[in-house]
Amino acid sequence: MNDDEAKKRAALAALELLPQTGVLGLGTGSTTRFFIEAVGALVRAGRRFSCVPTSQQSRALAAACGIPLLDDAGPWSIDLCVDGADEVSDSLDLIKGGGAAHTREKIVNFASKKNAIIVDASKLSTRLGEKRAVPIEVLKFAHGTTRHALEQFGAPTLRVRDGGPVLTDAGNYVYDLTVAPLDDPRAFDGLLKGVPGVVETGLFCARADYVVVAEAQTVRMLSRQM
Ligand code: A5P
Repeated sequence: MNDDEAKKRAALAALELLPQTGVLGLGTGSTTRFFIEAVGALVRAGRRFSCVPTSQQSRALAAACGIPLLDDAGPWSIDLCVDGADEVSDSLDLIKGGGAAHTREKIVNFASKKNAIIVDASKLSTRLGEKRAVPIEVLKFAHGTTRHALEQFGAPTLRVRDGGPVLTDAGNYVYDLTVAPLDDPRAFDGLLKGVPGVVETGLFCARADYVVVAEAQTVRMLSRQM
């Protein structure tokens, strides 16, 4: 089983969670890509969905797939958002933001009645921080000062690509904060949000109603009581 095969199986399994018609949130990333393409196929077959994308990248893909899209301003009434994740803990808390889209993803997640997360089994851990650093969107202004303040919580690294800092869709920087595995990610998130200059973190605590996990042979649907 290669990575793409597992991602696609998780994405297709999430289709069973879709309402017959309604408003969908569209996540960002290589797993969600398969989901957006599958929704496009449903729309072309006559299913009526309107969608809220969580990034410019997902907006462009969804538009190319012929999916009707709502504007970015909101407010929306989203029935179900389907998104990926970088790490999923035993308690179904998440680290997101590997694609720098976590601020928009969190807004859309909170605006959705239900949230489904689609991952392959490599994303599972016991405690958040075991596998991934925590992405933090930070204002450019005084980002060195913000980084200095973040050092009390772990080791922050400015995310760089192609020789320059990665910019979010809002034009901000991203720091990846390497941390010891987190016993209380919700409390940790609160501490990070208390640092001036922090726009949003990639910690999503108790925000997944369903986690669809593609294993080697099967797909498991995990769910939590919200
Ligand atoms: C985007 O910023 C992220 O939150 C993605 O949803 C997450 O990184 C999962 O991406 P992949 O499906 O590409 O692993």
